[in-house]
Amino acid sequence: MNTFKNKRSFFLALITFVISVCSLHAQTKPTVYVLATGGTIAGKGASATGSSYHSGEVTVDDLISAVPSLSDIANIKAEQVTNIGSQDMNDQVWLKLSKRVNELLNQNDVNAIVITHGTDTQEETAYFLNLTVKSNKPVILVGSMRPSTAIGADGPRNIYNAVACAADPAAAGKGVMVVMDDRILGADDLTKTNTISVSTFQNPNYGPLGYMYNGKPIFTRTSLKRHTINSEFDIHNLSSLPRVEIVLSYSNATSLFVDAAVEAGAQGIISAGVDNGNLTTALENALNNAVQKGIAVIRSSRIMTGPTTQWDEIDDDKQGFSASWFNNPYRSRVLLMLALTKTKDYKEIQRMFTEY
Ligand code: DGL
Repeated sequence: MNTFKNKRSFFLALITFVISVCSLHAQTKPTVYVLATGGTIAGKGASATGSSYHSGEVTVDDLISAVPSLSDIANIKAEQVTNIGSQDMNDQVWLKLSKRVNELLNQNDVNAIVITHGTDTQEETAYFLNLTVKSNKPVILVGSMRPSTAIGADGPRNIYNAVACAADPAAAGKGVMVVMDDRILGADDLTKTNTISVSTFQNPNYGPLGYMYNGKPIFTRTSLKRHTINSEFDIHNLSSLPRVEIVLSYSNATSLFVDAAVEAGAQGIISAGVDNGNLTTALENALNNAVQKGIAVIRSSRIMTGPTTQWDEIDDDKQGFSASWFNNPYRSRVLLMLALTKTKDYKEIQRMFTEY
């Protein structure tokens, strides 16, 4: 009888020990929230080898269950913020997403956030969050170039790497990032460079922040631009964003699209100019007229690398323009939208374009 009692108490002690080790391990694993917005990563196609598919058809729970090893590296919680193709991304989703990210990262029991997103406008959303998230905790966007049903789908690997990076303490304080195709890219210079390749995202001016290798981040640079807790922009009380349009320049470009933007009530216009932000005379005059009407104008460039500088062929001070420096037209639009929530002064806006 004593032997039986000794064995019973031994097994009870063993079970208690195992449970406490598991719960201790669960407590030591970081908690990563996965917020889903749609995109190809949540896409489904009729054929595993064909190219046609519909994005935004797979739920966040399906995405997570397709990567079972996630539970080895983090406690995963999930929310479906929306389920759209990111070509339809809009101000309301941006504001909802940024407010939810800030709310979650304000909780002590949340260590990081991963956002699944379409690739079409991922660079714009990443930069908007880079300027509006008020936390040092990792925020990582992830997408895919192939739908979940395709042979060689890149989504599951990208999701695993994004969570592994987000779960690593080294990822704190780096600004908003994108993790795809084994690379860690900064929101400060994020550009989609190819319409079909899985290695489409690059940081063409600054180079990647680092690489994912063997499930671990290897950082090779940090961002020199202001971001997250060092950003002066705050959207927590905003229910809408100022309207900013982009106008492309090309040979023989007229004032047509500038006039349309002014007519539509734009508060800001980004010119995607030729070379170093240069403009046809017709465009330059139309943009100066817009400035006279109180509309902020930023000179950016249709060229992918190199800065759009002040002190070149156009006299910005005379025209009341600001130069975008290393921000392409799409990041310039995001930055000007946020700048206009604080000021219309072109010199103050110029400061912001040198710092963010
Ligand atoms: N519909 C596009 C989007 O959601 C697909 C592109 C992708 O996610 O790779 O951005």
